[in-house]
Amino acid sequence: MILDQHLNKILIIDFGSQFTQLIARRVRELGVFSEIISHKKIKLKHINNSIKGIVLSGGPLNVYQINKYSFDKKILHLGIPVLGICFGHQILSKLNGGKVKQSKHREFGLANVYKKNNSLLTTNFFGNKKSKQVWMSHADQVSKLPKNFKVIASSTNSKFAIVENKIKKYYGVQFHPEVTHTENGKKLISNFIFFICKIRRNWSSKDQKNQLVKDMRKLIGSNKVICALSGGVDSSVVAQLLNKAIGKKLYCIFVNTGLLRKNEEVQVVQTFKKRLKINLIYVNAEKEFLKKLKNISDPEKKRKIIGNLFIKIFERYAKKIKNVKFLAQGTLYPDLIESRSVTGSQTSKIKSHHNVGGLPKKMNLKLVEPLKFLFKDEVRKLGLELNLSKETISRHPFPGPGLAIRVPGIITNEKIKILKEADDYFIQALKDHGLYHKIWQAYAALLPVKTVGVMGDNRTYEYLCLLRAITSEDGMTADYYEFKKSFMQTISNKIVNSIRGINRVVYDVTSKPPSTIELE
Ligand code: XMP
Repeated sequence: MILDQHLNKILIIDFGSQFTQLIARRVRELGVFSEIISHKKIKLKHINNSIKGIVLSGGPLNVYQINKYSFDKKILHLGIPVLGICFGHQILSKLNGGKVKQSKHREFGLANVYKKNNSLLTTNFFGNKKSKQVWMSHADQVSKLPKNFKVIASSTNSKFAIVENKIKKYYGVQFHPEVTHTENGKKLISNFIFFICKIRRNWSSKDQKNQLVKDMRKLIGSNKVICALSGGVDSSVVAQLLNKAIGKKLYCIFVNTGLLRKNEEVQVVQTFKKRLKINLIYVNAEKEFLKKLKNISDPEKKRKIIGNLFIKIFERYAKKIKNVKFLAQGTLYPDLIESRSVTGSQTSKIKSHHNVGGLPKKMNLKLVEPLKFLFKDEVRKLGLELNLSKETISRHPFPGPGLAIRVPGIITNEKIKILKEADDYFIQALKDHGLYHKIWQAYAALLPVKTVGVMGDNRTYEYLCLLRAITSEDGMTADYYEFKKSFMQTISNKIVNSIRGINRVVYDVTSKPPSTIELE
């Protein structure tokens, strides 16, 4: 549980909606701090003066399954404005004496809501129209309004699509204003936070930077901190933030596993040591990794070997720095939200992820996680505020085990060398054609198959190179990017003509699921 006390905020009580994180993001995009807490965790004692408004999220439950959701209802009677969304709207009505029942027609998808009365909540929401298109996703609905509640808008199937109790400052919407399909949905959220909760803006990248630098200085004092730098966005932002806060008391350790993209180690040293003047310990462990991975072809074994060796090397170097008290990690807010599983379901393990952030537990170090309140897009903005380059901030994600999981089968030095070249040509071509930022992640892989080709008058028998480029929101699902034929021709010619060892290029057109983004 987080419940940070020093910023005024909107508290979002989560009942398990798939959109809860979106609510938090919308509030933050409007410049106001927001926190999510599970309905199972929230207690009256957590409510302090910093909470200026409460949002009750949607969720998969039914309001009459009382044993499945629990929270201290007194929280809603403290005079703090409340906005109930979908299931949250139904609970708010039920707790105040209204009734909820199964809808005759379940509403999923777009619907129109029609204005019935004026409300602060809908200021400039309808504009000069009488209706707006909204996104519905519910099977139950409020069938009788509690006393002192007024209808603000109705849809064909939900008479009580927007309601209010002005005196108590209770507001309910049956649809989801947080999703982009709801026309002007952000306006409703904005009206709630600024007109009804009367909270001031307190959440910009500059505010975050200043607050975090101050907090980190106070927390760390005269102690030393170590940080595993991978060159990815999260660890780069953590490093630069701590660099600003504590300067030379920060020690970043960057391990070159030999499995990085072409010239990555040069760029990391250039950016962090030379440009940003960060205390950087560069460890060249290429040979050590290659030796440990010799003749290993099982993907899970590869991951474990790389993860374990990484930690061993990190510890080896960390021990050389005396009197270290803290270990910095790039944990983000979504990793921390405790309420993910209201229904108790767990996704099964697909791959054991090795994240270079997830480091030693036995080292007796205290964790510093400066980004733990932030979403990924906020981390990117903070990075820019901290003077990191746009290039560092907007790089495609890169897996901890690196190129090892892009060479299915046995890894050799020769294969890695070939792959680095192919990947570099591909990424450069994406940049040259203005495609890099349209794509969420792209890479080349070297398949353990040789095929026959012809170059000039000669027969060739060389490796197969696979290209993958996907679009995605968060890496959980993905679709392949549709290139023009001319681009595919250009890049396949470039790779085959320039790299000895590859004579054929294929493009991966599977989505996730059923495939994953990486090959192993
Ligand atoms: P998959 O292959 O699981 O990848 O669809 C989803 C996203 O996660 C990245 N990935 C990793 N990141 N350590 C990481 O830090 C890992 O072990 C790892 N495996 C996959 C992958 O690149 C994609 O962005």
